[in-house]
Amino acid sequence: MSVKIAPSILSADFARIVEEMGAVERAGAQYLHVDVMDGRFVPNLTWGPKILADLRPHTQLPFDCHLMIVEPERYVDEFRKAGADVITFHLEATDHAQRLLAYVRSLGAKAGISICPQTPVEMLGDLLDDVDLVLIMSVNPGFGGQRFIPRSLEKIRRMRALLDSAGSRAELEVDGGVTVGNAAQIVDAGADVLVAGSAIFDGDDPAARVRQLREAIAGAPAR
Ligand code: DX5
Ligand code: ZN
Repeated sequence: MSVKIAPSILSADFARIVEEMGAVERAGAQYLHVDVMDGRFVPNLTWGPKILADLRPHTQLPFDCHLMIVEPERYVDEFRKAGADVITFHLEATDHAQRLLAYVRSLGAKAGISICPQTPVEMLGDLLDDVDLVLIMSVNPGFGGQRFIPRSLEKIRRMRALLDSAGSRAELEVDGGVTVGNAAQIVDAGADVLVAGSAIFDGDDPAARVRQLREAIAGAPAR
């Protein structure tokens, strides 16, 4: 499986979002990462399902929807209807993660679960049959442009080992502070999907940044 790049449109220029989405798609990104924040689970607000519905006709890329919201069970139907292909919610945001993962799959979407920096990967051990994607947050969720927390590398290695020993084919996604400088290390630790916001959209050439990230991980072993 080759490593996927998932530009986070949180860092795009919202007034030129279709153009910037097109640029990263043509440059070879595999997912578009859409960060949904509610001002409760995280101290920031972004957007709801309408943005996905409006953007859906403008790209072929799958929407990788990252819900940073309380009570995610209230909103997965709407995000699926709006065009989300992967729906990821936080373990810390619900008491019934297994039920919600199964429900997301029943809607025909890939079911993803995410954990914040304080949550050990071992908390996911009994959910491995139910997940299509595990998202390790390598910053505290809420904002783009933060620094990668170094200890996340160790968590990625442990998560990789858990997935491999369970024979799971779930994708291991890493989100927060990913740059051209640390991407190879993150992939070496076991990541399959790299989310990058500011590393791609800060500056004026997101396509070039996608290509640089791709080059940075070119030498990493394929899984
Ligand atoms: C943060 C979001 C991230 C964010 C990443 O809560 O989940 O997806 O956009 O931004 P960078 O790559 O700038 O850390
Ligand atoms: Zn995210």
